[in-house]
Amino acid sequence: MRAVTYYKYGAPDVLRIEEVQTPDPGDKDVLVRIHAALVTATDATFRAGTPFLARMFTGPIKPKAKTLGGEFAGEVVAVGKDVTRFTVGDQVFADTGPALGAHAEYVCVPEDGALAVMPAGLDYAQVVAVLDGVLTALPFLRDNAHLREGQEILISGAAGSVGRAAVQIAKHFGARVTGVCSTAKLELVKSLGADEVVDYTKEDFTRAGRTYDVVFDAAGKSSFSRSRRVLNSGGVYLSTVPSPGILLQSFWTRKFGDKRAVIAFTGLRPTTDKAEDLRFLTQITEAGQMRPAIDGRYPLAEAAEAHRRVESGRRQGSVLLTMEHNGN
Ligand SMILES: NC(=O)c1ccc[n+]([C@@H]2O[C@H](COP(=O)([O-])OP(=O)(O)OC[C@H]3O[C@@H](n4cnc5c(N)ncnc54)[C@H](OP(=O)(O)O)[C@@H]3O)[C@@H](O)[C@H]2O)c1
Repeated sequence: MRAVTYYKYGAPDVLRIEEVQTPDPGDKDVLVRIHAALVTATDATFRAGTPFLARMFTGPIKPKAKTLGGEFAGEVVAVGKDVTRFTVGDQVFADTGPALGAHAEYVCVPEDGALAVMPAGLDYAQVVAVLDGVLTALPFLRDNAHLREGQEILISGAAGSVGRAAVQIAKHFGARVTGVCSTAKLELVKSLGADEVVDYTKEDFTRAGRTYDVVFDAAGKSSFSRSRRVLNSGGVYLSTVPSPGILLQSFWTRKFGDKRAVIAFTGLRPTTDKAEDLRFLTQITEAGQMRPAIDGRYPLAEAAEAHRRVESGRRQGSVLLTMEHNGN
């Protein structure tokens, strides 16, 4: 099969297209023919090897995994002898988690991994686009903010992967949503259901005089110290990006004060929880509450171009690799 590989950290041109061995499913694995996979900010970080902290996951000197890619959709083409929940021909979507490997024509996933049958009515690319950011946004809003109907939430970074998912999930929970993004993305964020939008290039939400029950900084560009003044009593500030400040504040505010700061690491959750979230996503997508926003589709051979687009800061939605399977 063909796969996008890399052997050293660097700019997008370190990526190659290679013929590699198609993986063999173990007894509890399914082999999936991939039709679409996301290229995310995390893929770009893992490829570049910067910030250096990222190499804790990918290897200090050179990358351990040769193929990037986590979230994908495709068709089951073989199953191990002990697999009971999936069968050849199932259309599935999944997150390979730390194993990566989805920027390829085929991948093996354990049947009890983050794997589920696709929502009906969407094609492979659309399914991958609705999955973009969900496995982060959902645990932040549901498990950490306990977001409820009628609450006011501000989502900063609302045009990014995590932010776009957060806007739609917050609407599903019945919250009133204010999305913060740059000028060019205001329409995109409105189209996903935000009730209000704030252009961060023109206005600082911490100085606008409005207050919220939840502030979710999906981009990690604000701080709890500045945002606490716009939190209602009992309010929660969430950040996706670790810093010494938020780590300390999250420990401190658990014990003292009536406003909480929270940092979570959603990638480290058990795969059984992620699989449950995929099934939840299927339900709300089939109910018409998640809308795919696709910026661009690139063949495997143009993976470097896809990485450049992700790094450009201009994308309006998900960047995808789409695989052609001749004769299939
Ligand atoms: N803690 C966790 O478990 C976890 C899990 C996944 C991801 N993350 C982290 O979450 C962050 C976001 O990930 P992502 O995939 O959503 O990235 P992304 O798709 O690249 O989106 C980042 C967004 O940040 C926005 N932004 C830049 N400067 C801003 C500012 N000053 N104010 C408000 N927004 C600003 C950009 O908005 P415009 O496009 O409008 O300029 C962009 O859309 C990354 O740092 C990632 O490492 C954490």
